[in-house]
Amino acid sequence: LSNLLANATAGAGAAAPAGPAVPVTILWGSQTGNAEGLAKKLVKTFKKGNFEPEVFDMAAYDKGRLPQEKNLLIITSTYGDGEPPDNAAELYNWLLSEAPPRLEGVQFSVLALGDTNYPDFCKCGIDFDTRLEQLGATRFFSRIDSDVDYDGPFKQWSDGIVGLLAPAGAPSSNGAAVEQLETGYSKKNPFPSPIVQNFNLNGPGEKQTNHVALSLEGSGLEYEVGDALGVYPQNPPSVVDEILAALPFNTKVSVPLPDGGESTLRDALISTYDIGTLNKSLIQKWQARSGSPFLRSLVQADDKKAWDDFCWGRDLIDLVIDHPADFTDAEDFVATLKKLQPRLYSIASSPKAHPGEVHLCVGIVRYNTFGRKRGGICSTFLSDRANGVQPGVFVHSNKAFRLPENGDTPVIMVGPGTGIAPFRAFLEERKATAAKGANWLFFGNPYSKTDYLYADELTAFQKDGTLGKLDLAWSRDQKEKVYVQNLMVQQGAELWKWFQDGAAFYVCGDASRMAKDVDAALHTIAEQHGGLSKDDAAAWVNQLKKDKRYLRDVY
Ligand code: 2AM
Repeated sequence: LSNLLANATAGAGAAAPAGPAVPVTILWGSQTGNAEGLAKKLVKTFKKGNFEPEVFDMAAYDKGRLPQEKNLLIITSTYGDGEPPDNAAELYNWLLSEAPPRLEGVQFSVLALGDTNYPDFCKCGIDFDTRLEQLGATRFFSRIDSDVDYDGPFKQWSDGIVGLLAPAGAPSSNGAAVEQLETGYSKKNPFPSPIVQNFNLNGPGEKQTNHVALSLEGSGLEYEVGDALGVYPQNPPSVVDEILAALPFNTKVSVPLPDGGESTLRDALISTYDIGTLNKSLIQKWQARSGSPFLRSLVQADDKKAWDDFCWGRDLIDLVIDHPADFTDAEDFVATLKKLQPRLYSIASSPKAHPGEVHLCVGIVRYNTFGRKRGGICSTFLSDRANGVQPGVFVHSNKAFRLPENGDTPVIMVGPGTGIAPFRAFLEERKATAAKGANWLFFGNPYSKTDYLYADELTAFQKDGTLGKLDLAWSRDQKEKVYVQNLMVQQGAELWKWFQDGAAFYVCGDASRMAKDVDAALHTIAEQHGGLSKDDAAAWVNQLKKDKRYLRDVY
């Protein structure tokens, strides 16, 4: 490999005659658009060299081509409990569990996107990588597993593969992956957005769900319904001060920041570094500086369950207090921490209904573990600390979650809990555009009395005819749990009719349980009311996905 790389590099810039273009096939699996964005960026890079790149949404790729591929590149994320993105599921299941053809002539490399805060980090990419090799394909460049900050790993991977694939003697486009000049506000340059409304949508009780309206006035930022808003949170100063008080070195100093510049350690711990949940790599680095026998045995045993058990319900503060480590100085300490990442929230407003504003529906996460009150970093920030602060925000486009282009198409929406967010936006948009298609919403939450989010607005949408059908699943109003999928099955005949009329089906909310159960309900309905066999029902659901009539925004 290093020879090949040397050749390719030596050839770079030499004015040799261009040979036949090198074919490259890029497949992307993407839930929120990150992997898709990188795949498209990579195509542009290849187009600058002597390559013939083709790029496919995995759902639209013809599996029959696989054995003929010469150079196969896979960029895929993982979400939920180590699951493939929706558009990757079919190819993934076929490759892993059926009997695909041998792939002896195929060269491949995988870029896996993930989040080290979740178990099964990068599982989908890892599975593709392992399986392709099992099937006889040759891994020509090692897989890279990237954490949420994927720019660096992407550059490393793309430089590597482009260098290796560059035709010998031809100018390599290695290094041509020039970052597009960013203009305006973006993830790297977030807009400081004033909060104009911020209140609890729930009645008195345990649950807290805030309606947060932010101003985009003067930002030039635009969004479409279905998009998400990225929000940069800040850590609670009270916890930061506790950490500072417990650290064994002078904390009244400045530290360098990961993206350049410097700030006081206190400000860095509030705004730049992640002091929330623990992860394996942090604990490994921490252990190297700590005499804690417990941490030593945890790292040595390297047992998944032991890692999960220890990380569960704990934050950086627990390491600082319970397992003190011997850092030489503040710089040494922050070197163990990851960057604080923005959180994505499904946008709950239509820009047509609220020009210059963007609305979010935020479930505020609070819990008590190991004798300490804790909470979700971004949700408690928005609820408790953000008014007057102007949080940094950016628009994350979600092209895979759009209303049907034709306003006449009927729409079915399933969004329990904060999953209602994009559907409030959808309904506002359908009203603002006078779309003629019928709308049907399934919403659910524990108690009708306190948890009926946006009750007045939904009632108004019913009155003005925007919302033709509304089904409410109050899970705890009665002894037996009632969930959205139960109501779907009860209304199966009517739903089946809507599907026959071309309805598009949308799901938003909890990925690990709700979205799975809703998916199962769809199969049941196709069997019960479409008279389909189990296999035919599965094929029907798959076809819905392929036709982009079954879209999900799940987390
Ligand atoms: P529960 O908490 O009473 O069990 C929003 O969180 C709503 O989704 C709540 O009413 C919650 O009910 C419900 N919910 C919990 N698990 C679910 C599942 N597997 N499918 C659908 N809804 C679920």
